[in-house]
Amino acid sequence: MKSPIAVVVLAAGAGTRMKSALPKVLHPLANRPMLRHVLANVMALKPARIVGVVAPGARDVMAAFAPHATVVQKKPLGTGDAAKAALGALRGHTGPVLVVFGDAPLVTSASLKRLLSACAKERAAVGVLGFVAGDPSPYGRLIVQRGMLEKIVESKDADEIERTVDFCNSGVMCLDGRLIAGLLAGIKNKNAKREFYLTDAVALARAASHKAIAVEGEEAEFQGINSRAELAVAERALQQRLRAAAMMGGVTMIDPDTVWLSADTKFANDIVIGPNVRFGPGVEIAADVEIKAFCDIEGARIGRGAIVGPFTRIRPGSEVAEDAHIGNFVELKATRMGRGAKANHLAYLGDADIGAASNIGAGTIAVNYDGFGKWRTVIADDVFIGSNSSLVAPVRIGKGANVSAGSVVTEDVPEGALAFGRARQVTKEGRAAPLRAKLKARAAAAKRGKKK
Ligand code: UD1
Ligand code: MG
Repeated sequence: MKSPIAVVVLAAGAGTRMKSALPKVLHPLANRPMLRHVLANVMALKPARIVGVVAPGARDVMAAFAPHATVVQKKPLGTGDAAKAALGALRGHTGPVLVVFGDAPLVTSASLKRLLSACAKERAAVGVLGFVAGDPSPYGRLIVQRGMLEKIVESKDADEIERTVDFCNSGVMCLDGRLIAGLLAGIKNKNAKREFYLTDAVALARAASHKAIAVEGEEAEFQGINSRAELAVAERALQQRLRAAAMMGGVTMIDPDTVWLSADTKFANDIVIGPNVRFGPGVEIAADVEIKAFCDIEGARIGRGAIVGPFTRIRPGSEVAEDAHIGNFVELKATRMGRGAKANHLAYLGDADIGAASNIGAGTIAVNYDGFGKWRTVIADDVFIGSNSSLVAPVRIGKGANVSAGSVVTEDVPEGALAFGRARQVTKEGRAAPLRAKLKARAAAAKRGKKK
C-alpha cells in the first residue's frame, strides 16, 4: 500500500509586486482565486492532509484554504522557515510531504504525480521538479552529478560556473516525511539574502548520505506569478487548457482563442460555440446547445437544444430550458425561460418567469425595479407578448393570454385574455396635407425672423 501524502502550500510571501490590496494568491485566474487552482491540482493526488502557510492576519487567505488547515509563519524569513512553520501540523505523518507554492497555479497534477512516483521508486529523501529555463537568472540552479541532485544554489549565491547551469528549480519539492523535521532543522541563513532556504534541504540530505533527485518538467508549468503581467500570461495559458479540455469533451469552438471560460464552466457534448463568447462563473450548458457569436453568460444553466445569441447577455440566476431561443440584444437577469420559449430580439427580461412556448416580442421590457425594490413578472405557458411592451412588475400573465404590441401592462392578465395597454389610434381622413402646409409656413416664418 502506498503511504499517504501530505501537501504544504507556501503562501506567506508579501506579493508586493502585484501592487494590490488583494493578497496575491487570491487574484483570480479563469474566475477562480489562484490558490484554488493550486488546491485543485494537489487534491487530484488525494492527499491525507493539506497545510497552508500564511502570513499573520491573512484571514482571507486562510478562508480560501478552508476546509484545510493553515499555520501562520510569523515573519517571512524564507521558504525553509515557511516549511518549518508547517511541521506542527504534519506531526505523525510519515509519508511523502509535497511542498508547493501558492503563486504557481499552472503546475499540473500529472507533474506532481511524476515527482511522487520517482521519489518513491528511488527512495529519495528529497526530490524536486526542475526545468530547463530560457532565462535561468531568477531561479535556483539544480546541481546534478552522476544522476544525483547534489545541491540547489540560489542565483545570488551561485559562482560563475554554477550560473551557467540552466537546469532550474521549479520550487516543487517532495521530502520524506520521516526525515523532513531533521532536514529543516539543519537549514541556516548564511547566504546572500539572509533567508532560510528550503532548497538547502538537498545538500543536507546528501551530507547525510540520503538520495536526492531532480525530475524534469516543462518550463511553462512552473511560471510563478509575481506581477499583473505574469498574471495575464498565466490566464492565457489556463484559458488554452480549458478550451482544449472543452473541445476534447465534445464542444466545437469556431474560434477557440476568442472563447473565455471559467474554471467551473460545465459543458455537455455537441455544443457549438461561436467567436467572442465569455463564460463567467457558474455556467452549465447541456447537449446540443448552440451559442452564437458575442454572448456573455454568467451564473446560468442552458438546457438541451437551446439556441442563444448572437449578442445575448445572460446574467446570474437565469435558467434557459430545453429548446428555448434567446436572440440578439436580449438580456436575461434571474429569469427562467420555459421549454421552447422565445425572446428573439431586443429585450430586457429581469426577474421573470416565462412559461413554455411563450413568445416575447421585440422590445419587451420586464420592468422589475421601481427605484427601491425588485419584483417578478410571471408569464404562464403559451403567452404572446406583442412587441415594445412594458410588463410592470409585480404582474402575472395567464396561460394562453395575448398582450398587444406597445402595451404597458400594470394589471394581471387572466388566462386566455387579450390585453391592450395603450392609447387607442385616432385616424383623420385627408388631414395630412393641411397639417404639412401649416408646419411649412411656420418653419419659413422662423427662418425669416432669424435673418433680420
Ligand atoms: C524559490 C526557490 C528557487 C526557485 C524559485 C522558483 C528558495 C530558496 N528558492 O525562489 O530555487 O527557482 O522559487 O520560482 O526556495 N514564501 C513564504 N514565506 C517566506 C518566503 C516565501 O511563504 O518566508 C512563499 C511565497 O509566498 C511563495 C513561495 O514561498 O509562494 C516562493 O517564495 P519566493 O520568495 O518567490 O522564492 P524565490 O526567491 O522565487
Ligand atoms: Mg518567486
